[in-house]
Amino acid sequence: MTAAPAAGRRADRGQVVLGIETSCDETGVGLVRITADGPVLLGHAVASSQDEHARFGGVVPEIASRAHLEAMQPTIRAAFSDAGVDPRDVDAVAVTAGPGLAGALLVGVAAAKAYAAAWDVPLFGVNHLAGHVAADTLEHGPLPRPAVALLVSGGHTQLLRVDDLACSITEIGTTVDDAAGEAYDKVARLLGLGYPGGPVIDRLAADGDPAAVRFPRGLTGPRDPAYDFSFSGLKTAVARYVEQTQRDGRTVDVPDVCASFQEAVADVLSAKTVRAAADLAIGTVIVAGGVAANGRLRALVEQRCAAAGLSLRVPRPGLCTDNGAMIAAVGAHVIAAGGAASGPYLTGNPGLPVAMVHVP
Ligand code: KG4
Ligand code: ZN
Repeated sequence: MTAAPAAGRRADRGQVVLGIETSCDETGVGLVRITADGPVLLGHAVASSQDEHARFGGVVPEIASRAHLEAMQPTIRAAFSDAGVDPRDVDAVAVTAGPGLAGALLVGVAAAKAYAAAWDVPLFGVNHLAGHVAADTLEHGPLPRPAVALLVSGGHTQLLRVDDLACSITEIGTTVDDAAGEAYDKVARLLGLGYPGGPVIDRLAADGDPAAVRFPRGLTGPRDPAYDFSFSGLKTAVARYVEQTQRDGRTVDVPDVCASFQEAVADVLSAKTVRAAADLAIGTVIVAGGVAANGRLRALVEQRCAAAGLSLRVPRPGLCTDNGAMIAAVGAHVIAAGGAASGPYLTGNPGLPVAMVHVP
């Protein structure tokens, strides 16, 4: 397989890349066009199996894999219809090669191989985490280099130094236990709010008092690692607070607990991100991943970046949660940089490190 544009295809208008995302519980398909100013979003579609996982309080891998299989073809059709292009317009296929759930990744990779073979175009296995960062370029254009990215999702919480979206992303901090989104999901479960926890806590917190309970801010002591995170103690503190309140015969004020928990998460995430940018003398901050859809995090990071003189980029909420457009965007960056296409043995890698932006 080759990264070169197929003969006779849209050389004049820029190649079209189709992206497929299946790393967790969203089947996403997106179409972007490569331009001199970076990838431009043509259209995308997302099918979610969230409702099927809700009664289990978290994602059930087997259910997610089956849901991807069932949703793949309809989501491909929906994305083409949204973008107003058809399969003959596609010049390359990009697919999430990891990290993610093994079975779920396999469905996407198998589908991507089949489409690439049928359409006779090259295939690019790409990194899901890079995808979250690349999503921002669809909305705000080329990324200043270098940039600091805070990546906050259900499976990851990382501070990244991004020197080149196509090939140079370095982790500078990570969570030592739970991811931020995981903390939202676990706290929602213990409050009986269902799955996923982020959107419902975000909504309820709007009616609560963020100062009602002072929950702990993990790893913020003077001797703690500056760029690492810990959310497991926070989740336990919420559980203890709820138990104690009930033992005392008082009613748990759910909006107050949501607002106070959310304040603790947003406080730590925004403080460490701004500190990393200042320490590294980097002027641009990006916040990406599902938790970047959170209202309080967006507001606090905006306030703190402004105070520190940093320029901030956050994709719109619909591009923060998992989608195929972000995967197509990484594919576009890799192709524009001359990256090699993936070979026929491409497979899903559940533990793919963020430094591996694409899998040749
Ligand atoms: O990036 P994403 O869609 O999937 C992963 O790669 O994990 O992130 C999903 C996570 C879930 O934990 C969900 O609860 C959280 O993002 N999330 C939010 C919000 N919307 C989604 N967390 C806080 N506030 C939100 N509005
Ligand atoms: Zn994600």
